[in-house]
This record gives sequence, C-alpha cells and structure tokens, in this order.
Amino acid sequence: VNWASWFPQIAAAWTGVGIAVLPVLFFVPAPYGRYERPGWGPTVRSPIGWILMETPSALAIGLTFWWGNRHTDPLALTFLGMWEAHYLYRALIFPFLRREASRRMPLSVAAMGAGFNVVNGGLNGLWLFTLSGHTGTSWFADPRFLLGGGLFALGFASHVHSDGVLLRLRGRGESGYRIPRGGLFHFVSCPNYLGEIIEWTGWALATWSWAGLAFAIWTIANLAPRAFSHHQWYRHQFADYPANRKALLPFLL
Ligand SMILES: NC(=O)c1ccc[n+]([C@@H]2O[C@H](COP(=O)([O-])OP(=O)(O)OC[C@H]3O[C@@H](n4cnc5c(N)ncnc54)[C@H](OP(=O)(O)O)[C@@H]3O)[C@@H](O)[C@H]2O)c1
Repeated sequence: VNWASWFPQIAAAWTGVGIAVLPVLFFVPAPYGRYERPGWGPTVRSPIGWILMETPSALAIGLTFWWGNRHTDPLALTFLGMWEAHYLYRALIFPFLRREASRRMPLSVAAMGAGFNVVNGGLNGLWLFTLSGHTGTSWFADPRFLLGGGLFALGFASHVHSDGVLLRLRGRGESGYRIPRGGLFHFVSCPNYLGEIIEWTGWALATWSWAGLAFAIWTIANLAPRAFSHHQWYRHQFADYPANRKALLPFLL
C-alpha cells in the first residue's frame, strides 16, 4: 500500500469524525472538571487520569520518530521538540500543579482521550517522520513555517500562562471556583483553550500537513463547545461576572 497517497483520505476521515463530535459536545460536556458527574463508570484521581490520558500522545509521536529514518534531520527534530514540549507539560507538569485534591476523572474519559491522542500523535508523527517530503533546513525559511511556528510559540505561552492563572485561584487542598482575572481573561473566559487552539493552528500551518490540520480541527471541536459551556456556567454562577468578557474569541464570541 502506498500510504503517502492514502494519507489525505485517512486524515480527512479522521477530521470528519472530529467535526461530527463538535455539536455533540455542545450538548454533552465531557464529564470531567466542573462537569464531573456519575454515570461514566469507574473513576481515578484526576492527576492520574490526566497522566493516563496525555502520556500516550508523547509516546505515540516518540515511537513514530523512532520508527522513521529522520533521526538526525533538523526539521524532524524541531517538530518532535515542539510536540513534546506541549505534551510533556500537559502529561507530566500540569497534573501536579492541579490544586483540587478530591477531584476525580472517569476512566472512560481518560481512555477516550488517550485513544484520541494516539491517533493524532501517530498520524502527525507518521507523516512528519516517514511520509512527508520535507527534510533538511530549507523549510525553516518558508513563510508558512515562520508564521506557524510563531503562532505555536505564542499560543503555547498564553496557554501555559492562562492555565497558571486558573491553577493559582485555589490554595493547596482548596476547592471551588473563583472569577479568573488578568491577562487574556480580561477578554475571554477560556484563554487557556484559545491559546491551545492558536498553538495547533500554528502547528497545522508550520507542518503544512493534513495530519496537522486534522489535529487543529479536533482541538477546536473539543475546546470550543467547552469554552461556551464554561462561559455560560460562569455567568450563571457569578452575578458579578464581567459583562464584556466573551467565551473564546476576544470581542466576538
Ligand atoms: N487539545 C485538546 O483537544 C484538549 C482537550 C481537552 C483539554 N485540553 C487542555 O487541557 C487543559 C485542561 O482542560 P480543562 O478542561 O480541565 O480546563 P479548565 O476547565 O479550564 O480547568 C483547568 C484547571 O483549572 C481549574 N479551574 C478552572 N477554572 C477555575 C476557576 N474559575 N476557579 C478555580 N479553579 C479553576 C480546574 O479545576 P477543576 O478540574 O476542579 O475544574 C483545573 O484544575 C486545558 O488547558 C485545555 O486546553 C486540550
């Protein structure tokens, strides 16, 4: 089988699943965090759930790198480094910065997230480290790489910063929710989600790949509905919630 020629169809089919999931998540918010509720099977402590859910992404892309034959290619190493920077933060740092000691996550959510991560990490790695035509250093000067890489860095920085603002709203062992303020929270309720969407949109541009585009669309499918749920939840919860703040896109939505 010539996988390179089949790849756009495979990535398009995967993107189609993401697009189908988007409307569902508007009505059924994924049952973790503030929407944790019974009925989703056995649960584990939340940090364990996050590690189980996100480590497979770091491993999947690592395995595809190992299987591929671009071990010393500067472009392949750069893409590997970008992906691993995000996923090592998500899988091994973020879980330990969380403050709510009693929060739990259904194993079913962790398993679905892990499956999603293996497919995305696998598709992106397979493309970048085996199938794509891009190697060497010339792509570093391409405007798509420069703009995409810039967006990735900007998105990652605002994502990590906004996660940090949220995590500092609670003291150790404290529970409950407060109104987040400062930075991009001035404009939107979920700048951590916005940052992540910008990051993977930048990745899609920088890798100029169907796999990157599929992942960016999946990220929007997961996070946009959740941003609107969070926004409504905040407005319902806090009478003094800032009226001008939007859900996800400054001044717009
Ligand atoms: N790429 C993807 O498809 C994808 C999918 C899902 C998530 N993610 C990323 O994973 C990260 C975590 O997702 P999430 O849905 O758990 O984000 P979240 O709802 O914004 O929560 C992040 C953390 O902050 C705490 N928190 C949030 N709002 C708070 C408030 N107002 N007061 C006090 N504490 C607050 C949460 O506690 P609780 O857990 O107790 O609510 C949690 O520990 C996000 O940065 C997101 O971008 C990515």
